[in-house]
Amino acid sequence: MSVVKINVLTVPAEMRAELEKRFSDRAGMVESADGFEWFELLRPVEGTERYLVYTRWRSEEDFQKWQQGEAFRRGHAQAAAQAGENQGQEPGQGHGHGHGHGQGPAASGSEVWTFEVAESTGPKA
Ligand code: HEM
Repeated sequence: MSVVKINVLTVPAEMRAELEKRFSDRAGMVESADGFEWFELLRPVEGTERYLVYTRWRSEEDFQKWQQGEAFRRGHAQAAAQAGENQGQEPGQGHGHGHGHGQGPAASGSEVWTFEVAESTGPKA
């Protein structure tokens, strides 16, 4: 049964465009991670101001392996360096997705939600 891991980002209005740019520049390494199934950056339109970084994985172990692995570290190292914060600290100890020329983190807060896929379907073939 697949698991869904969502990084929930609180993004100040003036940083929304910067966050989306940073994701469009993303490392693109998650695609090759073992057990990776899907990624989407969801932009809030109604009902919330928070962005959702949606990922789906074959299992919890596959997600943990990615989050503790090289692809996550390299995908996030840029962020820590570019955000100009946390010299030497791992991502996640600051908030925000970001490499934007010293603009600091784009998000002011983040939390992770975990779901199991209880039911799913796609369009009829
Ligand atoms: C709170 C801690 C986190 C921070 C500060 C953070 C920061 C970032 C940044 C800055 C990027 C853009 C990559 C780049 O700049 O090249 C990124 C990419 C990404 N983040 Fe996070 N992230 C965090 C936690 C997570 C978590 C828990 C997930 C999963 C639910 C996640 C999923 C992703 C994915 C899928 C990408 C694209 C990676 C790729 O393209 O290979 N992040 N993150």
